[in-house]
Amino acid sequence: MKNLLSMNDLHPEEINRILQRAEEFEHNATPNLTRTFTVANLFFEPSTRTKMSFEMAERKLGLHVLPFEASTSSTQKGETLYDTVKTLESIGVDAVIIRHEEDGYYHQLSSGIDLGIINGGDGSGQHPTQSLLDLYTIKQEFGKFDSLEVAIVGDIAHSRVAKSNAQALTKLGANVTFLCPKEWQGDIQAESSWDQILPKADVIMLLRVQHERHESAKGFSKNEYHEQYGLTIERYKQLKPAAIIMHPAPVNRDVEIASELVESEKSRIFKQMHNGVFIRMAILESVLKERF
Ligand code: CP
Repeated sequence: MKNLLSMNDLHPEEINRILQRAEEFEHNATPNLTRTFTVANLFFEPSTRTKMSFEMAERKLGLHVLPFEASTSSTQKGETLYDTVKTLESIGVDAVIIRHEEDGYYHQLSSGIDLGIINGGDGSGQHPTQSLLDLYTIKQEFGKFDSLEVAIVGDIAHSRVAKSNAQALTKLGANVTFLCPKEWQGDIQAESSWDQILPKADVIMLLRVQHERHESAKGFSKNEYHEQYGLTIERYKQLKPAAIIMHPAPVNRDVEIASELVESEKSRIFKQMHNGVFIRMAILESVLKERF
């Protein structure tokens, strides 16, 4: 894997290889890298989990990490993303992790750039490292994807997590259904209420309401959203005994999920974050090994 840009680019065998390597890292495997590589994390949108867990993964792999702050970089003086990345390549950076507000920003880096690029989230496009850590969490729980019933609930149209996971899970044989407000449905077919989802779901994947990507302030009040689309305590009680709850976070408590359920027995929300470190170690190792 020379770059990781989209879940569209990964075959099931590659996905399974990354999940396998993440499991090895979780059991303290030694990194298989021939030298000390240098990486930089270029985050042009806010992040806690992705940025911090990449930094943790980079340290565990023994990489050198060059600090980069978008707010004090020359992008503030109008430098393009291409010129920023080319600059880092010129001074010896081997790979970059990029989060950017523009869907498909990586297309502008597709020629002329010769360092590894890992997509840490592009606008409403893709979030492949989140998808892989979600897949790892599901695999840990059920040991398979085939025929699993996964319900993705919330702001589908604006969610890069929904798109990445729907593609990947379908490719791996899971049955993916959706529940969302009509306004945020995009071009997918969705269920009309929780009633169709609760009795059959193995995995409930909740999505953050992405206010920053909505064009107008119109929409639901927090209470209205929670009542219609949130995971309430009443709905939680109707889930199958072995069902799990996931959310990429950050969580809007009492909007997508009742606050008391965030650390409930069925919740894997903090487990997802824990798993993110091993998945990102596996991705970094794979990109760096392949390129050099
Ligand atoms: N899930 C996720 O991408 O979280 P951050 O925005 O905090 O990185």
